Amino acid sequence: MSEQVAERSDMWSNSFIFVLAAAGSAVGLGNIWKFPYIAGENGGGAFVLVYLICIAVIGIPVMASEIMLGKLGRASPIQALLNLARTHKRSTGWSCVGYMGVLTGFLILSFYAVVAGWVCYYILRLFSGEFSGADASTVGEAFGDFLADPLQVLLWFSVFMVVTIFFVARGVTRGLELCVRYSMPAVFVLLLILIGYGIHAGGFVESMAFLFTPDFSALTPQAILIALGHAFFTLSLGMGAIMAYGAYVPDEVSVGTTTFTIAILDTVLALLAGVAIFAIVFANGLAPDAGPGLLFETVPVAFGNLPGGAFFGGLFFLLVALAALTSAISISEPAIAYFSERGKLSRAQIAVVIGGACWVLGVGSVLSFNAWADVKLPFFDWTFFDSLDKITQLILLPLGGLLIAVIVGHVLPKHVVYEQLGLEQTQIQQVWTYIVGYVTPTAVFCVFIIEAIREILTHM
Ligand code: PFF
Repeated sequence: MSEQVAERSDMWSNSFIFVLAAAGSAVGLGNIWKFPYIAGENGGGAFVLVYLICIAVIGIPVMASEIMLGKLGRASPIQALLNLARTHKRSTGWSCVGYMGVLTGFLILSFYAVVAGWVCYYILRLFSGEFSGADASTVGEAFGDFLADPLQVLLWFSVFMVVTIFFVARGVTRGLELCVRYSMPAVFVLLLILIGYGIHAGGFVESMAFLFTPDFSALTPQAILIALGHAFFTLSLGMGAIMAYGAYVPDEVSVGTTTFTIAILDTVLALLAGVAIFAIVFANGLAPDAGPGLLFETVPVAFGNLPGGAFFGGLFFLLVALAALTSAISISEPAIAYFSERGKLSRAQIAVVIGGACWVLGVGSVLSFNAWADVKLPFFDWTFFDSLDKITQLILLPLGGLLIAVIVGHVLPKHVVYEQLGLEQTQIQQVWTYIVGYVTPTAVFCVFIIEAIREILTHM
């Protein structure tokens, strides 16, 4: 067992704390900011259905695999995969999945923190009462004006980055647990208040119909890839974040129970956020496909028109910022754990170096909404921000997840996997192997191929 883990073996003292930490990683901007806007851009119901299928068929097996690999390898994802390969006499080349995860985390954090910066600014904006009684067009303009100002966006991105570096440098334990324990139920309650607004203002029924009535004519192959990529993103899978947390799980923790708990919590929160936001959209005659600004153009309208809205609105964005922080901490964990194991630099030094490099890369995403709005990746027409978002979500996370499923389904000895998962009956063992070894990798592979063909055809 590596020194690093021995030193921090008390990290999650029981399974409840691990579930809190992993749920803190999973629940974040992906649920409250991203899920609603991509569901809106991709036509609603059918997209939501595909997303739910991806969570069940792909996300859950990959999450169980990641927790298990962490538990078995007891180190950073790179080192855990190396340890396992050596123990079971397999190729150490599989550790490339760990390296890819470190790179993916670095790319994700750079743009994730930019959006988290928007959220931080909105805490103040709502508390100040700026949106009291405001209508949708005023709120929309206010968001547009903010994004158009690179210095403002840079400032708030930097604030979030500094806070993240501070917590990462101190190590993830108590603070994280406390934060998730209280903020997650509070987010839940505030989403219910927003839904209450929707019922009162009249957008609730339309919102439910939009999200839960599948219209398959609106479903494109690209939407399927987006739903798949989002299943990985929202559950923090495919880059080793959950694997890194799994390295500190006590032996007796059940992989199956924790996996289901985390996946259900995450999905319920995303669906609630979706219902709340689309209720505001429809109650105010807004466009569901407004894109990344959707959260910021809708929620302030609702709170602006509710009694005590300035306080509750500010609190809402504060809780979203905390959810983003607990996710950001986990995004950096595979890299931080790996470099800590090397032993050359302290955790604080590593946090500053990695955070600093992320900040530099993040400036590109800050400028994507203003000075560089017209700088696009040839062929795809993606801004810098879009490029990082899409390359990680549509390629790197699903590819990482596919390889993790292959490692657990085909590379590790079966008896080791069954023992870790506590699978005793032969039939259940067969079902597990069939799903993780065949269904999950094949599904990801097929979606990749279909989308690749579509891209080639559209650019011919
Ligand atoms: N799951 C987080 C969210 O939904 O906001 C984002 C995330 C965290 C992605 C950790 C990837 C990761 F490894």
